[in-house]
Amino acid sequence: MLKNPANKYRPFAPINLPNRTWVNQIISHPPTWLSTDLRDGNQALIEPMNIERKLRMFNLLINIGFKEIEVGFPSASQTDFDFVRYLIEQQLIPDDVKIQVLTPARKELIYRSFEALQGAKQAIVHLYNATSPVFRRTVLGLDRQGTINLAASAATLFNQLAATQPETNWQFQYSPETFTATELEFAKIICDRILDIWEPTPENKAIINLPATVEVSTPNIFADQVEWMHRHLNRRDSIILCVHPHNDRGCGIAAAELAQMAGAERVEGCLFGNGERTGNVDLVTLALNLYTQGIHPGLDFSNINEIAQIVEDCTQLPIPSRHPYVGDLVFTAFSGSHQDAIKKGFAVQKPDTFWEVPYLPLDPADVGRTYESIVRVNSQSGKGGIAFLLERDYNLTLPRRLQIEFSQIVQKFMDASGKELSSREIWELFEQEYLQPRKSLKYVSHQLYIAEDGTQMLSAKLQISNEYITVHGKGNGPIDAFAIALNSLLNFAFDLPLDSKLQIHHYEEHSRHLGSNSDAIAYVEIAGTFVTGTLHGVGINSNIVTASLIAIINAVNRSVEPANTGFNRKQINQLKQFMHPENYQNFTPM
Ligand code: KIV
Ligand code: ZN
Repeated sequence: MLKNPANKYRPFAPINLPNRTWVNQIISHPPTWLSTDLRDGNQALIEPMNIERKLRMFNLLINIGFKEIEVGFPSASQTDFDFVRYLIEQQLIPDDVKIQVLTPARKELIYRSFEALQGAKQAIVHLYNATSPVFRRTVLGLDRQGTINLAASAATLFNQLAATQPETNWQFQYSPETFTATELEFAKIICDRILDIWEPTPENKAIINLPATVEVSTPNIFADQVEWMHRHLNRRDSIILCVHPHNDRGCGIAAAELAQMAGAERVEGCLFGNGERTGNVDLVTLALNLYTQGIHPGLDFSNINEIAQIVEDCTQLPIPSRHPYVGDLVFTAFSGSHQDAIKKGFAVQKPDTFWEVPYLPLDPADVGRTYESIVRVNSQSGKGGIAFLLERDYNLTLPRRLQIEFSQIVQKFMDASGKELSSREIWELFEQEYLQPRKSLKYVSHQLYIAEDGTQMLSAKLQISNEYITVHGKGNGPIDAFAIALNSLLNFAFDLPLDSKLQIHHYEEHSRHLGSNSDAIAYVEIAGTFVTGTLHGVGINSNIVTASLIAIINAVNRSVEPANTGFNRKQINQLKQFMHPENYQNFTPM
């Protein structure tokens, strides 16, 4: 049992911002993106990246389109120092890309950071110190003024060291670490103090980064904090306001989105939300959320599987199956009603219109995902999913009532096996049920005749009990004629009452292009006194009439087994006499 938390945890105090404006804002363009995969993300790995993996990640980030990349924490790790040197010395940084390094507010570490950056064309140096009361009191042993002094002397050193490396185009960034737990007016005081030292201009802005080092509140409170800073910071026109959400409460994405509405212009995060504890905010989700609103994020995730694979290789961490936009199952529907809606949506979705496929907020093809996994069939599924797979993979467009009939067969099979069925297994079940000739009646050949008044006559040679017999019937088309012809046979061969009438309840056909093969497929739904309700038969043949006759035979075979499976010669002769041909005189072969 969970303990009573009231004496252990305090609710987050609301922000006094009665005239907040962020609630009415709409995000209409992407933020400036900063990937910290190689710094914050890397610091959170069980096994931090070596130079080779860092380089792979760096190249991936460049290919995706990041223009600002935090490449490491060179004063904290030799690998990071060497990696920054390697990038600069090997001239691996494209001219339009700024690298960023993080440094604490400590003199020797700041020296080391500037040393790592020697020779860079442009660089962002990122200064941080913790500012919240708990940190001041418990971790640092500093009061407010001491905390300000620490940051201020670090900021001053930034100016001095940058002046000694004039070949680099410098930009400075300050993060009041633990911002979300810091008193707002104190966060403003310390940021303003740093800005007074750096003296940014609208042409050469400083970055003020507001980290949710730990996510401690609902995202609306974070948005209030950001809007408060946005409105109260000095030199606002010379600042790029940035956020760096973590995801402790699972709201990192919402926090980053609301923060942009509240005035943040830049977002720091990692691919697929890697990062300390529950992760940094996921830049892929943020970017694709924008994309699904019709806003190009300026980052390319058109091959998300390959990106995911590289990230997993570099971080050695798996991406969960339900992770937005990328997880193995995120474009998959198991539920029958979802599958049905998706199938209908795909049927009407046109390539040049707005995306409106139910349950899929994004066209999987836009991120390089195939439609393969969209519908998977298990015991939760229904006719829609089954029909979708047969249509997509086997070019069968099942009539609705056949979908219902077949889904019951699939359901029974799955209830027995308890397993998911692949598209191939569904097809095999379908073939077995509807297409494989049964022992009773078999189609052999047919001939169509027509009279002057348009009446059609059909003679069909069938195999029954290893004997051949030809049946004849007249009707207004081959299907009608065949049904009539079969009726007499059914009465005799299946021991059915003489008034047993075979009726064709429904008939559909379509051509089926599979590679070079273009077969016709016919679906019939039959009714009759020998059938409970109705039932279906399916026939496939290159000739459409043949496909229809086979479909009828397959339906009949599914409904009854001949009473006399072993007719003797006498019976067969009787049958042949009984099935005497109609008068052919007025008919000519078609
Ligand atoms: O989460 C955090 O506060 C950080 C800072 C160093 C920006 O990563
Ligand atoms: Zn962080």
